[in-house]
Amino acid sequence: MKKLISTLCALFVAFTASPVMAKTVKIGMAIDDLRLERWQKDRDIFVDKAEELGAKVYVQSANGNEQTQISQIENMISRGVDVLVIIPYNGEVLSNVIAEAKRDGIQVLAYDRLINNAEIDFYLSFDNEKVGEMQAAAMLENKPSGNYFLMGGAPTDNNAKLFRQGQMNVLQPKIDSGDIKVVGDQWVDSWLAENALKIMENALTANNNEIDVVVASNDATAGGAIQALDAQGLAGKVAISGQDADLAAIRRIVAGTQTMTVYKPINTLASRAAEIAVELGNEEAPQANSSLNNGLKDVPAWLLEPITVDRTNIKQTLVADKFHAESDIYQ
Ligand code: GAL
Repeated sequence: MKKLISTLCALFVAFTASPVMAKTVKIGMAIDDLRLERWQKDRDIFVDKAEELGAKVYVQSANGNEQTQISQIENMISRGVDVLVIIPYNGEVLSNVIAEAKRDGIQVLAYDRLINNAEIDFYLSFDNEKVGEMQAAAMLENKPSGNYFLMGGAPTDNNAKLFRQGQMNVLQPKIDSGDIKVVGDQWVDSWLAENALKIMENALTANNNEIDVVVASNDATAGGAIQALDAQGLAGKVAISGQDADLAAIRRIVAGTQTMTVYKPINTLASRAAEIAVELGNEEAPQANSSLNNGLKDVPAWLLEPITVDRTNIKQTLVADKFHAESDIYQ
């Protein structure tokens, strides 16, 4: 009898002394479009890190369809996730579905792109206005005067507006002084290269090929534009910016047909996002270094530093970070 009592006491002590078992945080990751290379990296790194932290992740890609994404988020809510991590296709249309999530006590992290007029809990991204400033500064360094074509990103993407704001912060004084002339300005639906190709073909025709610089907001659209430039024998003669350090873009930079890209260490972004998602799932307040108003509230945020990459610093950045293998770049 004595032995039984001492065993029961030992069990009771063990149970009450052990830390409360951290719950398994269930995360729903709603991605705009896995057709673009960079989001495949975000997903892989995020899932690996979240699972390392003991969370479960359920990923869905909307392939650039607004209604599909809303339905996918609703499905995640009904599955009873603790946290939604959303890369919005359209940051202007999620107010209702996020209100539904908040009614169920779900935490919401806006990943890389801000979601406006919605009750989100945290925003994690890079300083996207600075991305635009870096793109424009690199173009001015390459071509301080001439005819500039502005090729914006997806009009549904809040980041596209921030990139453009940054670009104009740098270009406006040169436009006012007459040094540069903006000969066209188009935005590329869903950031798709085939849409950028068509826009660039039309722009070259409309300007009789007299374009000196294309301020492109990411590598996929830069790639489409370069195809159109190449068809006119202008690839490598017209300066063009990009963003994301896609492998194809780095090869173009080495070949001289793309001037630069903006590298955003996805390893850092996606790993930090997984940590933040688990913190939110455990009702902890993630550390913020910024705050942005999204039309409804001041959203606590963590903004990371982007890095300009051109042919002079590929090895010190992308290769050193193991973002791309040297053999893949210089194949
Ligand atoms: C933006 C993102 C960029 C760009 C684009 C295409 O929101 O910040 O890195 O790649 O989407 O997906």
